Amino acid sequence: MEEMAPAAVRDHSIVYAPRIQDLLSRGEKVFRIDAVTVGVSDCDLIAEIVAARPVLSTERSVFKPAAGADIHHDSATRTIRALGQDVMAGIRTPPPAARGLSGAWPYAATTYMRRWLFSSDPLPVSLLSKRGVTRSDTLSRIVDRAVTVWPGSDAEGRSTALAGRIRDASGIQERRQAIALYRRATATLCDGVAALAGNALWLMGPAREQEAARADLTAVLWETLRLLPPAWMLFRKGGDAYTGLHPEIRPEDRVALFPLLMHRHLDYWADPLDFRPERWAGVADPESTPAFMPFGFEGARCWAKHLVVPLAERLLTVAFDNRLVIRSPRQETHIPLRSLLSVRFDAEVGACPDRRTP
Ligand code: HEM
Repeated sequence: MEEMAPAAVRDHSIVYAPRIQDLLSRGEKVFRIDAVTVGVSDCDLIAEIVAARPVLSTERSVFKPAAGADIHHDSATRTIRALGQDVMAGIRTPPPAARGLSGAWPYAATTYMRRWLFSSDPLPVSLLSKRGVTRSDTLSRIVDRAVTVWPGSDAEGRSTALAGRIRDASGIQERRQAIALYRRATATLCDGVAALAGNALWLMGPAREQEAARADLTAVLWETLRLLPPAWMLFRKGGDAYTGLHPEIRPEDRVALFPLLMHRHLDYWADPLDFRPERWAGVADPESTPAFMPFGFEGARCWAKHLVVPLAERLLTVAFDNRLVIRSPRQETHIPLRSLLSVRFDAEVGACPDRRTP
């Protein structure tokens, strides 16, 4: 089943994986998905659920336990600070050759972002996040061991701050955790930014090249985060904390929160299926908008949100400067069932192959 795209990008539609489509067609804001899962897209109830208790360490994504132990708060904050330094340094660095953006999105963009931000790291650290390695558990284990024994040096002062966290670890346990955090942080960042930029390119539609010159890319990205939020579903394990909040939720249930559904509910948005970046014009703090939570609600807000939008904007600018075009599909794309919501397409940079942004 297909959901038609908004008027501005008619003939440019998305076919969602059947289970996502099934969710999109649910009218209720609180509904049972299966024997142990309750879905919620009600703005007030989601806010209450998020506020009811802090996320458990096992519910965390980047900072879930690693090397058999919880991640200390101090280690988590240092990791985010290091990632922030690396992103800011990357934004100031000339991007890699744009031909790296040609190929199957979002993967081409993920690889491109890794090359841009983390390619200065010495071997074997740079292998930690290489796609060919991360797809194989055996290769990942081998690279982990190599990095544990030899985390490289900063002889030329070129490695990233995240790689420095591995090198400066004070013991084996701390180093193992730093390795896991390097892999998770780089993956979450590069996959997330690639998904967000790809979703934006698709939503802008075939007129994107003409529009890009005058588009407010920040507004385009906030509107993309509304209509196709990469983090489309958040899980909470059950527990007594939620049972009093709604009669449908039992102690043994887990709860699935759906920004994707909330962001397109008629009760909260005018013309919710229309892709209208103008909605965000003059909105100083998009995240204070009711029923909008692309980076979570107060109490579990994303620690890296201030990095994601500027980086995606930079990536889109490189794509437009190098006349990236979507080769296929022309009119209808698929979104598979994955933890990150992202459209799939093949893209190619324009006739002028290696024009770089200054
Ligand atoms: C496009 C990229 C990203 C999106 C869309 C995104 C979205 C989100 C969302 C929706 C939440 C709330 C989760 C919940 O309540 O269950 C969240 C929380 C969080 N995010 Fe992100 N995120 C992104 C990238 C990152 C990156 C790169 C990092 C760090 C490397 C990160 C670190 C966190 C942390 C630490 C939390 C708080 C939950 C916890 O303590 O584990 N995020 N993010």
